Amino acid sequence: MTTEETSSEVTTTGPTAGSPAGSPAPSRRSLIGWGGAGLALGAVAAGGTVAALRTGEDAVPIADSGAAVAFHGAHQAGIATAVQDRLHFAAFDVTTTDRAELVQLLKDWTAAAALMTAGRPVGEGAYGGLAEAPPDDTGEALGLKPSRLTLTIGFGASLFAKGRFGLDAKRPDALVDIEKFPGDNLDASRSGGDLCVQACADDPQVAVHAIRNLARIGMGKTAIRWSQLGFGKTSSTTPDAQTPRNMMGFKDGTRNIAGTDAPDLAKHVWVGEKDGAKDGSAWMTGGSYLMARRIRMHIETWDRTSLQEQEDVFGRDKGEGAPVGKAKERDEPFLKAMKPTAHVRLAHPDSNHGVKILRRGYSFTDGTDGLGRLDAGLFFLAYQRDVRKGFIPLQRSLARNDALNEYIQHVGSALFAVPPGVRDKGDWWGRALFS
Ligand code: HEM
Repeated sequence: MTTEETSSEVTTTGPTAGSPAGSPAPSRRSLIGWGGAGLALGAVAAGGTVAALRTGEDAVPIADSGAAVAFHGAHQAGIATAVQDRLHFAAFDVTTTDRAELVQLLKDWTAAAALMTAGRPVGEGAYGGLAEAPPDDTGEALGLKPSRLTLTIGFGASLFAKGRFGLDAKRPDALVDIEKFPGDNLDASRSGGDLCVQACADDPQVAVHAIRNLARIGMGKTAIRWSQLGFGKTSSTTPDAQTPRNMMGFKDGTRNIAGTDAPDLAKHVWVGEKDGAKDGSAWMTGGSYLMARRIRMHIETWDRTSLQEQEDVFGRDKGEGAPVGKAKERDEPFLKAMKPTAHVRLAHPDSNHGVKILRRGYSFTDGTDGLGRLDAGLFFLAYQRDVRKGFIPLQRSLARNDALNEYIQHVGSALFAVPPGVRDKGDWWGRALFS
């Protein structure tokens, strides 16, 4: 168990007094569905119990299995957290124009996220309430373990637009409009978004359940703009674990910022106290910037490419993952031994004035494209302290020179300001931004 894994911080008691064993008495909230959930969840956030919010068979809290990641902390979980196996990522458009409604939504989302990451259903649960109202929870995660679910929220530049929610003076300079890089073929319907939620879990059903329930809570105030499912993590923040392989068959994540490397995290990932002092974005202290890119792979072309060419493209061998001329995966790369266009040579910090990013991407396969080709690739996710010193200079170099470009194309792009962690039960996602 890592230090981040804890049992639930939410307390439970037995069934509500006076109700039949195992079935809490339906409350008034059952009649009004999620619309009135803010109050009840507020009670939980303020330290109340969740007995009245639970229904069904799980009298023993699922989180007692231990496989829950703490929701509260200085930084949001899902960044330095050991990478889980599955992803459901969603970008949302905010459809309400009312600031107070948006704030209430963020509070409701925070309360629901605290429950779901602890392995609990949202609101009053999936069944057992009044038959006349739709259940608060959609139910498909009942009986499943917390599965190390993390939910990480981000704010897109469009949320800060003048005349929307009064946030324009708080837009961080680092939340730039991302330029078009050579070779980009971006689809607007897979790019951007006012908000994003990254759900990572070891069980895909747990990740999907989380996004689905947040989307449901947001109905009438937000709508999903685009979403991406991911499997087979393509990066590791745990260097001692076996490095996963990407859809091109290569080990991916060998050299990455480890989730336990506090100095590197402080230097390259977390926004520092002074970073936002000048531009009104002090609210981002302890947060990070998330660059998401949907990168399609030309799998069929890759599969017809010789092994030598494949290894030259990366500058590492396919079996062990060792850098050119070295024997072991973790051996220090000798960059000059690689082709000048090798991906690893170009992306290495020594070729980029020491730039480092924390990669947390996933493979995706979204069926075929109608021409018999797999719509597959890498959903690239990278966290950094300032994208102008992280992803942007790296991608400028890669987009021009990387031999990998023959086999990939960037088709979606979004940048989000990821606020710091929710400190305690009275805190909520975005509090510092909206206060
Ligand atoms: C489909 C696209 C991509 C694939 C298949 C891919 C694959 C790989 C592989 C196999 C490695 C070597 C193993 C490792 O050290 O993790 C690697 C390293 C790396 N990649 Fe990528 N990558 C892709 C896109 C990108 C992009 C867009 C960026 C950033 C703009 C990036 C940044 C890096 C960095 C920083 C390293 C580590 C270099 C080092 O320190 O040695 N990659 N990538």
